[in-house]
Amino acid sequence: MRVFKLMGVQTMIMTNAAGGLNPDYRVGDVMILKDHINLPGLGGTNPLMGPNEDRFGLRFPCTSDAYDRDLRALALSVGAELGFGDLLREGVYCVQGGPNFESIAECRMLRIMGADAIGMSTVHEVLVARHCGMRCFALSLVSNMAIMDYDSVERANHDEVLETGRLRAKQLESLVSELVDRMETHNTC
Ligand code: HPA
Repeated sequence: MRVFKLMGVQTMIMTNAAGGLNPDYRVGDVMILKDHINLPGLGGTNPLMGPNEDRFGLRFPCTSDAYDRDLRALALSVGAELGFGDLLREGVYCVQGGPNFESIAECRMLRIMGADAIGMSTVHEVLVARHCGMRCFALSLVSNMAIMDYDSVERANHDEVLETGRLRAKQLESLVSELVDRMETHNTC
């Protein structure tokens, strides 16, 4: 992120695959991140740990505005125009340390905490990008549903994640490229 900043990048667009925790979500939905829960951060592991690099940003940066409001609104309207309909959501992403998928009890806890989707990435990058003043926009592809039910025989697996990614690749590509076009039109890249 800091190399991008030094290269003059002003806006970061990030994508990830995530497990759906919100029971209204379906595999293949696309969630625009409006906020996050940084589980490793709450537990004391944060990319901004250590001496602060003052040339990049403040020691104690704000996180309540991490996901740019204007870009989120623009993406929602681009998605509507492209016919995404109910596929396009806005929600809270939770990052956990990985590499294992979550247990059933963990999924239940995360849902109660207010997370709509769970993954293993993106938040670290967002924290460093925001620290040095870059605008951030991020999308999760709901590649599988998190397992919340002890009677379920489903098991989270990486093949399903990859397969959902393949199925939605073209649609996501058009959403992101149209978003970038519009940002450029508005001169906000
Ligand atoms: N959990 C964590 N990370 C993920 C998942 C999940 O269910 N799906 C894709 N990345």
